[in-house]
Amino acid sequence: MAAETMFHVLVPDNVHQKAIDILRGRAGISVSAPGKMERNALLEAVGAAHALVIRSGVTADAELISRAPELKAIARAGVGVDNVDLAAATARGIVVMNTPGGNTISTAEYTMGLMLALSRHIAPGHQSLAGGRWDRKAYTGVELKGKTLGIIGLGRIGQAIAKRAQAFEMAIVAHDPYLPPAVAEALGVPLLELHEVYARSDYLTLHALVTDETRSMINASSIARMKAGVRIINAARGALIDSAALAAALSSGVVAGAALDVYEQEPPPGDHPLIGLPNVLHTPHLAASTSDAQATVAVEAAELVLAYLLDGVAENVCNREVLNAKD
Ligand code: MLT
Repeated sequence: MAAETMFHVLVPDNVHQKAIDILRGRAGISVSAPGKMERNALLEAVGAAHALVIRSGVTADAELISRAPELKAIARAGVGVDNVDLAAATARGIVVMNTPGGNTISTAEYTMGLMLALSRHIAPGHQSLAGGRWDRKAYTGVELKGKTLGIIGLGRIGQAIAKRAQAFEMAIVAHDPYLPPAVAEALGVPLLELHEVYARSDYLTLHALVTDETRSMINASSIARMKAGVRIINAARGALIDSAALAAALSSGVVAGAALDVYEQEPPPGDHPLIGLPNVLHTPHLAASTSDAQATVAVEAAELVLAYLLDGVAENVCNREVLNAKD
């Protein structure tokens, strides 16, 4: 660290170069950005850090926080902070910030892509031809037009999906207990009780945070309330789904298909009950992985860190109690 350095920022994951350049360009800041770090190396390196800029692949748990005596801020280049132990950070007075808007469009576009690919068997069709077959009959699909899309969680991403699905002439219904009804009304999307969304939807897409209320919300009893032949899309968090229950429903055909981008454990274990099922399309947490979104969230995260370290300004704070304690 240079003699005039006041603060050291560690970027222990592959975060867009624009963010690193912004951090390096500021006086008083030193930066270490080695790319994705192994856990042990990270536990070592975090000892000198005043701030971390992370993606979902870095687990900022109580152990890591205990190894970071200088740490003041964690900025998440992305939305979910389920990889950060908020209680441990709060107890240490560490501000945790996120960048909730930057990957909305990428995630919404990806969700539409999953829905289309699942409906039209695009991945198995590709695999089949790559394997030397010319099989048109096995991959007859269904249209989105005229089908009902149920959106669980009508926040930024859910709303962006609603607009895109309307362009595909789908009927949209949603469940979101926190959204002001006027917002849904302006979108032309009826807000319904969860069981009504389940009963009406041909496609169900999940855009909720994992809480005690939503963990495993897609389970045997909720599936029993769904329309037979429903297709389920999850580009939010794996823990929203009880994988064994969904696997059983996919095998029996009660659920016609599922498109999954997220898993309770990432990467998922080799014996994950949903991986490899013929009516499941799975991808490795790619929804926000566009150069556009990654640049936006990384730059935002770098700016959050600089504003906090250099000017004491905290924005997009996920553990607001930490600010009350500081006051
Ligand atoms: C998010 O929470 O922002 C997305 O899941 C993407 C990511 O994990 O980076």
